[in-house]
Amino acid sequence: MTAPLSDLPVNLFDLERLALARLDGAAADYIAGGAEDEITLRTNRQAFEQLALRPRVLSDVSERRLGTTVLGSEVALPVLVAPTGFHRLAHPEGELATARATADAGTIMVLSTFSTVSLEEVSSAAKGRRWFQLYVHRDRGLTRGLVERAAAAGYSALVLTVDVPVLGRRERDVRNGFALPPALRVANFDLAQSEALHAAEEDSGLAAFHRGLREPSFSWKDLDWLASLCPLPIVLKGVLRGDDATVAADHGVRAMIVSNHGGRQLDGAIASMRALPEVVEAVGHRVEVLVDGGVRRGSDVIKALALGARAVLIGRPVLWGLAWSGEQGVARVFQMLRDELDTAMALCGASSVGDITRDLVV
Ligand SMILES: Cc1cc2nc3c(=O)[nH]c(=O)nc-3n(C[C@H](O)[C@H](O)[C@H](O)COP(=O)(O)O)c2cc1C
Repeated sequence: MTAPLSDLPVNLFDLERLALARLDGAAADYIAGGAEDEITLRTNRQAFEQLALRPRVLSDVSERRLGTTVLGSEVALPVLVAPTGFHRLAHPEGELATARATADAGTIMVLSTFSTVSLEEVSSAAKGRRWFQLYVHRDRGLTRGLVERAAAAGYSALVLTVDVPVLGRRERDVRNGFALPPALRVANFDLAQSEALHAAEEDSGLAAFHRGLREPSFSWKDLDWLASLCPLPIVLKGVLRGDDATVAADHGVRAMIVSNHGGRQLDGAIASMRALPEVVEAVGHRVEVLVDGGVRRGSDVIKALALGARAVLIGRPVLWGLAWSGEQGVARVFQMLRDELDTAMALCGASSVGDITRDLVV
């Protein structure tokens, strides 16, 4: 029996609705939510909606090539998987399903420090290229250990997230007393380290966990320490200003992700698409610049590339795909974005991502 048409998501907004309805309330809120009034969460979308495309006509678009390279690696489309924690909240196969679907889509998954499958297990269970996302921990030995394990397991870049010196106030999680279900754990850590996640005493388990581990004093000089022990190229995630981007490039960072953490950290922070031009202007000639936050349509990808991004990353849509239908659900996310991007490129008169130039967007 085939599913009724109305149950099949036609776009990512359909998928969001179907996916969130399947999850328990606290998990759905953990995925959907942003910090405080969720202003930044909303403005990430509005920034895309406020940009207009200026399509070119009568260009031969009979063949379209969606592929590009990111840090020298070929990807089949300029869309990567952003690091998000706890994929097993959305589906029992968790990060393994995400990794397989991402490899099949021919692109790169960034595995979160807060994966519910260990980084080694993800590596051995799925082909494809992956980057490892790192939060710096107070315990330098723990940080060093994660970097060494990621390099040994074949991850090809280290994504250092720099917009979480402390955790943003995610009020939905506080209200729900969000805690990780007992059956799940942060698989890159030992049991004792992830214990706080299971207890939501004052606010949320996630906030308690962060307080125990994080290193708010980490600053530019510590980046040099990290670079000295890291054999992998470092990608800085969470940059929103041109001056920070310049300092980062001076410290040898190889790429940057313009991001406000999907509106989950500083509420009121600038939409990532509004910050993108400033960062591209400052460092686009030296390093690759990527962007995330609110990418939901193929035409959003065109807008980001037109403003100078090398590629975009998607966070929540992957979790929606997982919650809806595991590996197949994530495959569906890529299929929808690929089809939309292909159509939008044709309608813009672009045969390849190289044709997506600054003049396409106002
Ligand atoms: C549920 C969830 C968990 C996240 N976990 C992490 C994380 O562990 N590390 C990190 O660097 N970013 C994390 N992020 C931020 C994402 O990497 C990304 O910046 C953001 O989701 C992009 O916005 P989008 O969800 O609108 O696509 C998380 C985001 C969500 C929604």
